[in-house]
Amino acid sequence: MYRTHNCGELGLKDIGIEVILSGWIQKIRNLGSLLFIDIRDYFGITQLIISKKLMKENTFLGKEFLIKIKGKVVKRLSKNYNIPTGEIEILVSHIDLLNPSLSTPFTIENETDGNEEIRMIYRYLDIRRNIMKKNLMIRHNLTMEIRNFLSDNGFLEIETPMLINYTPEGARSFVVPSRIHPNQFYALAQSPQLFKQLLMIGGIDKYFQIVKCFRDEDSRSDRQIEFTQIDCEMSFVEVYDVLKFFEYFIKHIFKKIRNIKLDSFPSISYSDAIKMYGTDTPDIRFDMSFLEFNNLVKTKNINFLKTQELVIGIQIKKCYNIHDNDKMNSFLKTTKNKNFFWIKYSYNKTLFFSKKNFLNKEIIKIFVQHFKASPGDLLFFSYGEKKETREKLGKIRLKIADLLNLNNSKIFKPLWIKDLPLLEWEDKSNKYKSVHHPFTSPKEEDIHFLKKNPKNVRSQSYDLIINGIEIGSGSIRIHNKNIQNLIFKHLGLSQKEIESKFGFFLKAFEYGVPPHGGIAFGLDRLVNLLEGNKNIKNFIAFPKNNYGKDMMTNAPYFLEKEKLKELHLR
Ligand code: AMO
Repeated sequence: MYRTHNCGELGLKDIGIEVILSGWIQKIRNLGSLLFIDIRDYFGITQLIISKKLMKENTFLGKEFLIKIKGKVVKRLSKNYNIPTGEIEILVSHIDLLNPSLSTPFTIENETDGNEEIRMIYRYLDIRRNIMKKNLMIRHNLTMEIRNFLSDNGFLEIETPMLINYTPEGARSFVVPSRIHPNQFYALAQSPQLFKQLLMIGGIDKYFQIVKCFRDEDSRSDRQIEFTQIDCEMSFVEVYDVLKFFEYFIKHIFKKIRNIKLDSFPSISYSDAIKMYGTDTPDIRFDMSFLEFNNLVKTKNINFLKTQELVIGIQIKKCYNIHDNDKMNSFLKTTKNKNFFWIKYSYNKTLFFSKKNFLNKEIIKIFVQHFKASPGDLLFFSYGEKKETREKLGKIRLKIADLLNLNNSKIFKPLWIKDLPLLEWEDKSNKYKSVHHPFTSPKEEDIHFLKKNPKNVRSQSYDLIINGIEIGSGSIRIHNKNIQNLIFKHLGLSQKEIESKFGFFLKAFEYGVPPHGGIAFGLDRLVNLLEGNKNIKNFIAFPKNNYGKDMMTNAPYFLEKEKLKELHLR
């Protein structure tokens, strides 16, 4: 028998009983006449007392050795109320060594000295750290909650294939050579998109799947090549129905996992998001939305600005105390030779401003009045070509929020972004590309543009942004064969390619496609966001590094010649 109890459950109620425990040695303290050992398992930590005699027989023990002990539960003199077993200890009568351990390459503590690379190489040791184990437990709880909630609400979990045909979905796919079919390849599914739509055509009313997706793209702190989606689809729905249900879903998750009650989710159109925040993923924990000044600079005849395509500015209220805002001052200096200018309205009512060769006190006062600025405010402006000016001010807005600590990770502000453009023109490939994916339905009122002016068509799509992070994305799907065909053509596919790649799909359209729509949430992103938004790797048991490499197994790796031959690759 390896254990009568685990290392996290014994307490005062157990005083006097004989127990057997198994665990890894977390800590050893030698007091000369006695040895204190903390042993750890999945459930917790228990303190052991080893007598001098037993100590002599076990001098070889070290950290992370796995031992089995027999002993009696006794009351602890110096109690540790920080852990559940802190009022007792075990007077050990027998020690069995189950397995020795090398000294570990980093400390197995919450605050470890190991950097990310070494922790990834020895991920199994990293997972022994309480903080990592907890992360995996939180992910498990979240996954269970999601499964139960969706199942209780009539969603059926159905698995769809991972090995599929290459389809244009936005990112690059990983390809898998077939041994049986020479020179033919599968692609690893970027998402179950087509299959979930086929399930709706198959008469399934509501589907979900917690599913691995694969995308051959660069990894970042919120992106992995192999990640998990909470993928959902519903029949007979419009945008309103999807947003209503999934707002309820997200609110439920926040309440259950973090006991946080979210307010109603506001929604804005994609074009407003770009105009107001310079990005399609605005963080609305803080305001600072853009004001446009083109009319003002024209009517006031402000020379150097009136010729710019766009002049925009933001107001940062009560942020500016000239004496103690060094970080802000250094930041403002970095914006000097760019298409920016700023006005500081100090608490003693003095106005400071940049770009003195173009601006003067009169002009500055116009902006101050326009913003109704008060002492302590900072006004920051960007000017130039439309797209770039907005993007740049969008980044500055985030930078300033960061400097002022406005991005509190304990506050959550969801936002729906709706009506994304259906297609965008890509100069590089000289053709249109879907903004969401090729199966997204155009907005009814824009369909008339579809043939001749496709870039003006908005789609029935929506993204869920929380604190500036895209947590989910979805759309109402095309359920009309002609429209689907036309979209494929706009994407540059010839009729032959459409037939060979999507023939089966378009065929299905001839058997009564229900109107349908859905959404997919990034599970890794969601759990990471719920827990403070540091890096999604913290919630993935065996993540890849930023170059898509598994540091522990060393994948991807070369294949032997024979294998390549077998796969018809040589
Ligand atoms: P999309 O490609 O927007 O939509 O993906 C949906 C959500 O998945 C998450 N996500 C990622 N998470 C981690 N690493 C990645 N590389 C990664 N890529 C995406 C994001 C994103 O919002 N089939 C459609 C959904 C639909 O239309 O129903 C799709 O996959 O949180």
